[in-house]
Amino acid sequence: MRRLLCAAVAALALSAPAAVAQDTALLERGRYLVEVTGACGNCHTPMGPQGPLPGRHLAGGTVFDEQPFRAVAPNITPDPETGIGRWTDPQLMRAIREGIRPDGSVIGPPMPIFFYRGLADADLRAMVAYLRTVPPVRNAVERSTYRIPLPPSYGPPITSVSPPADDPVTRGSYLANAVAHCMECHTPMTPAGPDLSRLGAGGHHFNGPWGTSVAANITPHGLRDWTDAEIIRAVTEGISRDGSRLKPPMAFWAYRNMSAQDRSDLVAYLRALPAAQ
Ligand code: HEC
Ligand code: HEC
Repeated sequence: MRRLLCAAVAALALSAPAAVAQDTALLERGRYLVEVTGACGNCHTPMGPQGPLPGRHLAGGTVFDEQPFRAVAPNITPDPETGIGRWTDPQLMRAIREGIRPDGSVIGPPMPIFFYRGLADADLRAMVAYLRTVPPVRNAVERSTYRIPLPPSYGPPITSVSPPADDPVTRGSYLANAVAHCMECHTPMTPAGPDLSRLGAGGHHFNGPWGTSVAANITPHGLRDWTDAEIIRAVTEGISRDGSRLKPPMAFWAYRNMSAQDRSDLVAYLRALPAAQ
């Protein structure tokens, strides 16, 4: 008995570090996706003049007041009353990737579901695991109102999405579309969704305390005179080619922690886009 117990303890001791390492890797990947490349806080954390408000990380409340809607970013901390604490993992995964809440209702813009539909299973799982670990904040936010009809869904149910093929342009495409939704802001919108024939051509206007900013053309037409280093500086530091500061709402404050690999993949992808005027 004693020996059996010892064996069991020894087996546990052997397997536990492996499981912990796996958990740590999953949470670290989730943190990176939510906080850095995905920059969920760009919408879900209320911003003050100094950037994200302290103590309100991912607690919602930011209002997007536009002609077709008055959308309010919900609280996505694990608070059980006012956040997503009572949602199961599959419910949270479906909300993020398919835009459908546990009660069956459809999540509206500007939550970029069109792009998040491309999130690979492993990344989505990592995001959800990480969201469970952020400090819960009690913050009830008002509901959004839409003056446009929301679609019944954003497409057929998704059972599985594989990770991108392992080459720079494909990885960069996954990053710029599914994860960081660069192409959401930088592609002209039509009532039916982004105009994919003009991916990256820019033109959106964003109004805010900063005045108005216009999403730039980031196809090889717009970036033809830019070096790779200048593109990376714009994305991760918010500094334009001529040294001037770029205006919000691009999430430089999050992208500044982007890995070297992701930076070069992004550039490879932007360089490979069809040049659009
Ligand atoms: C461009 C802004 C924007 C970004 C970026 C964004 N969201 Fe959202 N999200 C919203 C808005 C606005 C809603 C609510 C829409 C509505 O009321 O129908 C929402 C809804 C949600 C919901 C549903 C919550 C509820 O209570 O209904 C979840 C979960 C969610 N977002 C998670 C995320 C995660 C995770 C990320 C990052 C990977 C993210 N969002 C990035 C704006 C955004
Ligand atoms: C929330 C909207 C938004 C998102 C997301 C976004 N951008 Fe931007 N981006 C802008 C706006 C607006 C500008 C112009 C700011 C200005 O002119 O002050 C800009 C500027 C740029 C510039 C500088 C180009 C120039 O001519 O000045 C580059 C490069 C760029 N974005 C690339 C990216 C990449 C790559 C991503 C994804 C990692 C991304 N953007 C995500 C809105 C966005």
